[in-house]
Amino acid sequence: MAWWHGAVFYQIYPRSFHDTNGDGVGDIKGIIEKLDYLEWLGVDALWISPVFPSPMADFGYDVSDYCDVDPVFGSLADMDQLISDAHTRGMRVIIDWVPNHTSEEHLWFQESRSSRENPRRDWYIWRDANPDGSLPNNWLSSWNNEPDWTLDPTTGQYYLHCFLPQQPDLNWANINVRRAMADTLRFWLNRGIDGFRMDVIHLIGKDPALPDDPEDLLFVGHVPLNDVPETHAYLKEIREVLKEYPGDRVSVGEVYLLEPEAVATYYGERDELDLSFNFMSLLTPWRAQSWHELIHRTETAHLRAEAWPTWVLSNHDNQRVASRLNGDPTRIRSAALLLLSLRGTPFVYQGEELGLLNGDIPPERVVDPGSRDGCRTPMPWNVAYPHGWSGEPWLPFAADADRFAVELQHEDSGSYLSFFRQMLLLRRSTEALRWGGLTALRVDGDLLSYQRFVGDQFVTVYVNFSREPVVLDHHDRPVLMRSGDDWSSSSRELAPSEAIIFC
Ligand code: GLC
Ligand code: CA
Repeated sequence: MAWWHGAVFYQIYPRSFHDTNGDGVGDIKGIIEKLDYLEWLGVDALWISPVFPSPMADFGYDVSDYCDVDPVFGSLADMDQLISDAHTRGMRVIIDWVPNHTSEEHLWFQESRSSRENPRRDWYIWRDANPDGSLPNNWLSSWNNEPDWTLDPTTGQYYLHCFLPQQPDLNWANINVRRAMADTLRFWLNRGIDGFRMDVIHLIGKDPALPDDPEDLLFVGHVPLNDVPETHAYLKEIREVLKEYPGDRVSVGEVYLLEPEAVATYYGERDELDLSFNFMSLLTPWRAQSWHELIHRTETAHLRAEAWPTWVLSNHDNQRVASRLNGDPTRIRSAALLLLSLRGTPFVYQGEELGLLNGDIPPERVVDPGSRDGCRTPMPWNVAYPHGWSGEPWLPFAADADRFAVELQHEDSGSYLSFFRQMLLLRRSTEALRWGGLTALRVDGDLLSYQRFVGDQFVTVYVNFSREPVVLDHHDRPVLMRSGDDWSSSSRELAPSEAIIFC
């Protein structure tokens, strides 16, 4: 087992985490200042969303230089400091790597678009219109259903962009692109980074024929439909680069395919990704049958591939889990108990440990082209406005920021934050939860249950998905944790929506 099998990752969206220079945008020094908090919380590794130079059309996911830091976030020296300070505390740091597309302002694209003869022309995906004048194919953006092709008047050809027109797709079929991107990995590996979260990694390979998507699936956009062998070959090369370095540097792929079976193929024969996101957990309704099916399918597919699963309930692209569960406190705690007791590496998104809800963004404050501002509102550190920021930040705070503030919850042993921290401590100190196998997965009406085990150490988890209490009187084992209002209670009765772990 490698360190990342047993780690809990904490995703930092730097713009909204902590601001140290008063410009209303979080920065790398802000992360450094909050390392005490993260260490206290008990997470093992940080994933930092992009801090590279960027025109910010997609808030950093449009990279204009992979080997530098945008001044709004700080400097390379700040990143070095962050890595070294985290390491001193025994925490790992991974960064986002955005290999499918660059910013249109990246020098490579500037050159590529300058003429059809430019040596970098083929670094991106250029096509003529079809003879009848139509677009090269029917691919659409998942955000707005606009075509994935934009005409560049200088050379009269269209370029491909699976996201915004400001994010042209790189041509990974070109070996020089692959070499240049491998060097961007080495740049950060040399600085001591522990690995990468690889943005929409399943998109880097493209069917060379760029065939039309099926008409009946056009509404989902091209991104979740791109699943081709080319990507697997590139992933093997990427893995080789990480293996040049000691210390189990990890790759976590954002494989935005909505079937656990498809996701599992991106581990290859343990020669592609180390870990891959499985986003079905963000879309699965809070029902025992649905979770049973998802866990069963995930376990089956990953065991077959000898792959280690991941679990996630929130991130910077999706409505926060607390909002999906309508703010119901017991359900939110049960969801955290589930996330932190399943087999696989959990990813926690900043604010999730506070039970934070999505923000309602007034129309005049909307900034994201993908309508995701609501899950990116600033962390409320302090109770009093501006909640540990020095004025109104780049996005408004979510409603009731004072009620969710770290300052308040930190002192309250009955708070959601205290519950979340207890769960993290329990996971860290319980081998079965951290590295163990999963067995005895069952659903009985609205009651889901499973066991985690290492050797002859077993723990048993029950999640009551119903609005009725459930009595578990056959259980004589002590309670390790429960998600009801009193989580030290040893009662055998599960309250409505409550989850429990017995040792
Ligand atoms: C991924 C990121 C998302 C970004 C997109 C394009 O889905 O998580 O934030 O907008 O890729 O890079
Ligand atoms: Ca700042």
